[in-house]
Amino acid sequence: TIDEKVERLLGQMTLEEKVGQLNQYTGDRLATGPVTENSTKYKDIKEGKVGSMLNVRGAKDTRMVQEIAMQSRLKIPLLFGLDVIHGYRVTFPIPLAEAASWDLKAIETSARVAAIESAAAGQHWTFAPMVDISRDPRWGRVMEGAGEDTYLGSLIAKARVKGFQGNKLGDLDAIMACVKHFAAYGAAIGGRDYNSVDMSDRALWETYLPPFKAAVDAGAATFMNSFNDLNGIPATGNSYLQRDILKGKWGFKGFVVSDWGSIREMIAHGFAKNNAEAAQYAINAGSDMDMEGRVYLSSLAKLVQDRKVDIALVDDAVRRILRKKFELGLFDDPYRFSNEARENKVLNSADNRSKSRDMAKRSIVLLKNDKQLLPLSKSLKTIAVIGPLAKSEKDMMGFWSVKWDNDHLVSLYEGLQNKLGKNTQLLYAAGCNSVTDSTHSGFAEAVEVAKKADVVIMAVGEAFDMSGEAKSRANIHIPGAQEELVQAVKQAGKPVVVLTMSGRPMIFNWVADNADAILHSWWLGSEAGNAMADVLFGDYNPAGKLPMTFPRSEGQIPVYYNYKSTGRPSPTDLAGVYRSGYIDMVNSPRYAFGYGLSYTKFSLTDLKLDKSKVISTDSISVTCLLKNEGKYAGEEVVQLYLQDVFASVTRPVKELKSFEKVYLKPGESKTVKFVVNKEMLSFYDQKMNWTAEPGEFKLMIGNSSDHIMLQSKFELETN
Ligand code: IFM
Repeated sequence: TIDEKVERLLGQMTLEEKVGQLNQYTGDRLATGPVTENSTKYKDIKEGKVGSMLNVRGAKDTRMVQEIAMQSRLKIPLLFGLDVIHGYRVTFPIPLAEAASWDLKAIETSARVAAIESAAAGQHWTFAPMVDISRDPRWGRVMEGAGEDTYLGSLIAKARVKGFQGNKLGDLDAIMACVKHFAAYGAAIGGRDYNSVDMSDRALWETYLPPFKAAVDAGAATFMNSFNDLNGIPATGNSYLQRDILKGKWGFKGFVVSDWGSIREMIAHGFAKNNAEAAQYAINAGSDMDMEGRVYLSSLAKLVQDRKVDIALVDDAVRRILRKKFELGLFDDPYRFSNEARENKVLNSADNRSKSRDMAKRSIVLLKNDKQLLPLSKSLKTIAVIGPLAKSEKDMMGFWSVKWDNDHLVSLYEGLQNKLGKNTQLLYAAGCNSVTDSTHSGFAEAVEVAKKADVVIMAVGEAFDMSGEAKSRANIHIPGAQEELVQAVKQAGKPVVVLTMSGRPMIFNWVADNADAILHSWWLGSEAGNAMADVLFGDYNPAGKLPMTFPRSEGQIPVYYNYKSTGRPSPTDLAGVYRSGYIDMVNSPRYAFGYGLSYTKFSLTDLKLDKSKVISTDSISVTCLLKNEGKYAGEEVVQLYLQDVFASVTRPVKELKSFEKVYLKPGESKTVKFVVNKEMLSFYDQKMNWTAEPGEFKLMIGNSSDHIMLQSKFELETN
């Protein structure tokens, strides 16, 4: 068995070789610069002091580096890891955009394609999915997650793990998932990256941990811990998180890698005095592999010799890592993933590109459509395309795009050209030179172009490097002079469609009030322009729903739909006196979680519950009728929310507990069915026991968290 093989190998290893397995280097310089026998990394790999490399890209380079490892005494193969966050060669929409599809099958497919491509290019391991729940759009890393909701986030975590890992590790199209960042990183104070988190155990267990648990249950092979300290203890040195919860209570059998240098960074946290102490705390707490921190390499062997660290802990970490190497089949053939012929065949295939385009269409959210301006007619004579992002390709790729193919990126402008025939003339003006340009020098030209057109399409938003790691923003408005550009262009008097593009929720109140139509199109990847054109001209009817609330002002942050009522709720949503709110702003956001329009109109009627009183072993069957009342075929996401009206612990005003995405042709209707069970009624009580308390529950169904169309009540009785 694999366990026997691991034990046999472990028995042959010196302490230094064991520590080597726990060391991960970045390969950037090794892979891109000349590899000389004198370089430290070369020597360390050859001496068995390295267990894994990150950032070595491609079949050729991974093979070359693996060959060095094969010169080591025990010939233990390296693991190659990379941030394959939204595609490898074919870039998919950023994960936050994909979450807007509420389409678990499509999300799994996206991760599958990323795995197929990267596995063919020598990778064994992606540092994804990021499953951090976040309610703070200032945090640049929201682009990498599934948004603010625990239930939706847990389902997406599972879908992405399944997509990356395929049928089983060891298959040539499967890579290891790495669930990150454990834990609570999404609650970094002030939305500042790397910042501290201070959080109640209740919030941790109820809101932040469930997606991690869902990923463990889906069989995730690895975890990454986190840069933040949680309630005073850095996550990397946190035994409660890694040993008690992850490896203890949840029985996780894979291994935990640190974040980049996060073991060493415990010194800067003021938690460990030096490298040795940092290494000691991290290994004791259950961090198995040191990513580019080099402190295990420098300190761990001595800590064991000095009896400060129990060798059993080192052995446990090594076992976990070796087990994965066996499962991946690397001991049978260390080069099995590094095959240039397969790489050339698999990467950038037409099928992968069409899946990316499909995912991109599903990720777009229609925020506004006054007078049914959209979809546009393909026989329009003249269209003005305006904005600094209209011809941009790179920005469409978003942060964390690893290996995109420059020759095959599709800007909005090019997507429109691809879509439209010769009879439609496209006029273009950037309006501003870049997204951060604050001058108005290009405005006059943009207005002139707009005047000549039947319709104006504007592309505004963030550049690709404005959301992502270390990209927190205090001001999340559309950057530079772009919103003023929309104002100026609108003066031309033509209908204006605005495509807002970003890696986070943005604020654009003027545009929201005055544009004729708005499509939030995030960063959509390699096929961005084609997907946007599909939606603009009605070849696809948008069905995306926001996975994260869009505020009206940064002052409303943290902002989320499942807040508590408080003792002084603000029912009219007006700035009330002595109410829980602001004197200068309403509480409600600009666009709520779950919001998103369609070109067609759906009605929801006939809510029926098969019981109005239940005991906890019962389930309630809930049905309602969804009808497409409009003239376009399309999909609607029917969302079911619950509230425990009175409980021993105050509960949110509503929580998403189920949803169904339904496709209907014009005039068609369908009965949508939900089952409400005890699990959906449960929460952590005063003693932190997971329980469902008898009493009244409110059931709400709608097409957005702020648009409840059907309501009912039921009673949970004592068994
Ligand atoms: O995977 C990432 C992590 O999310 C943030 N720091 C760097 C790691 C490796 O690139």
